[in-house]
Amino acid sequence: MKIVLKNLTKKFPNRSKKGDDVIAVNDFDFEIPDGKLIGLLGPSGCGKSTCLNLISGLETPTSGKIFFDDEDVTDLPPEKRGVGLVFQNYALYPHLTVRKNIMFPLENFKGDKKLDKKQMEEKALEAAKLVQIEALLDRKPSELSGGQQQRVAIARALVKMPRVLLLDEPLSNLDARLRLQTREEIRRIQRETGITTVFVTHDQEEAMSISDMIVVMKDGVIQQIDKPQAMYDDPKNLFTAKFLGTPAINVFSGSIMHGQVCVGEDPIMPIKHVENRKVYAAIRPEGFVPRERGKLKCELVGVEVMGRDTSIISRHSAFLGESNIRSIVSSDRLPDLTGKEVRFNVKPNKLFIFDCETEERIYFDTDTFRLPKEPPEEDGTDDEEDTETDIEEEGVTNEEE
Ligand SMILES: Nc1ncnc2c1ncn2[C@@H]1O[C@H](COP(=O)(O)OP(=O)(O)O)[C@@H](O)[C@H]1O
Ligand SMILES: [Mg+2]
Repeated sequence: MKIVLKNLTKKFPNRSKKGDDVIAVNDFDFEIPDGKLIGLLGPSGCGKSTCLNLISGLETPTSGKIFFDDEDVTDLPPEKRGVGLVFQNYALYPHLTVRKNIMFPLENFKGDKKLDKKQMEEKALEAAKLVQIEALLDRKPSELSGGQQQRVAIARALVKMPRVLLLDEPLSNLDARLRLQTREEIRRIQRETGITTVFVTHDQEEAMSISDMIVVMKDGVIQQIDKPQAMYDDPKNLFTAKFLGTPAINVFSGSIMHGQVCVGEDPIMPIKHVENRKVYAAIRPEGFVPRERGKLKCELVGVEVMGRDTSIISRHSAFLGESNIRSIVSSDRLPDLTGKEVRFNVKPNKLFIFDCETEERIYFDTDTFRLPKEPPEEDGTDDEEDTETDIEEEGVTNEEE
């Protein structure tokens, strides 16, 4: 079942009593396609929970409408919407067994929907099987690990076969390993049941790994809606660019000067059709290609070996980040990193520029050409045999001078 949000807005009176209303959800207007898993992603306080609560009916919108398929559910109370909810704190009943906890939502069925005990137990078992806790049905919540408790909470949300599953930071209380495992589980369950699901998180990696589509939010305003990879490859503004990716994108104070993108004083890439102006220049960690005569001249700070990859840590006077520049290069073809300087060329598809005022992306054409299959002798690289390199570095700018 698809969910349609139409100009949905929720305002709260300011908690400090003084000051303007807080617009927690500002004019949301999008559609969640049937059977998909959508990640609502943004920093704490950006309105994710409010949006979820509007969909569930726990909050009523200030204006706008919500449809489930063609049915207007805006004024429908939560229990009539057919939604399953899972929160960060599992909120299980401590004195009830796992079985009774899962059965609980079925107890309230009235009239011809009313189920007898056997039917309820069957449904509970079915839901328990889905999240693979059927062996734990007779235990109490205190006898379960955090991950198991969260599975019980998910089973309880699923037992009524909801039309929509809403998950609000469901993995936040789990340790790293369980978080990984449980998110794979949620993905599997969602695929198996085909229930349209909204998953709230502030963790970009979590959102990227689990979602069909991500909605990035900031201060109650949608920044971008895209598939995870598209969001990473094609951020529409500086906020989205910075929010996705670990290590984070490296942001520099830059400019367009005479057909070149400049980082500080260094012209790093020729571009076409953009007039001279100040910009933010942002480079993904994997966009740096160390080269003896590279265009971006940085001070080498350190090298961190990570096995497959190596992280080169460096400084540049135009860098705007909090610590140092982090670039990631393959450990298979490391340059000499013993000097005081490290120089990079930049992959054009890993460089984004943004307007300094609006922080919106500025799109550009670049005057790059493909690296020759065999790099020139004097280039000093030895990666001729590595076909992957050729593909990866296609389009790196002006290798020869
Ligand atoms: N009941 C409420 N009363 C007043 N302000 C609220 C209420 N609920 C949320 N807010 C405010 O709305 C904004 C969004 O909150 P929330 O949806 O909980 O964000 P998130 O889940 O992304 O952390 C915040 O500024 C928060 O303080
Ligand atoms: Mg929240």
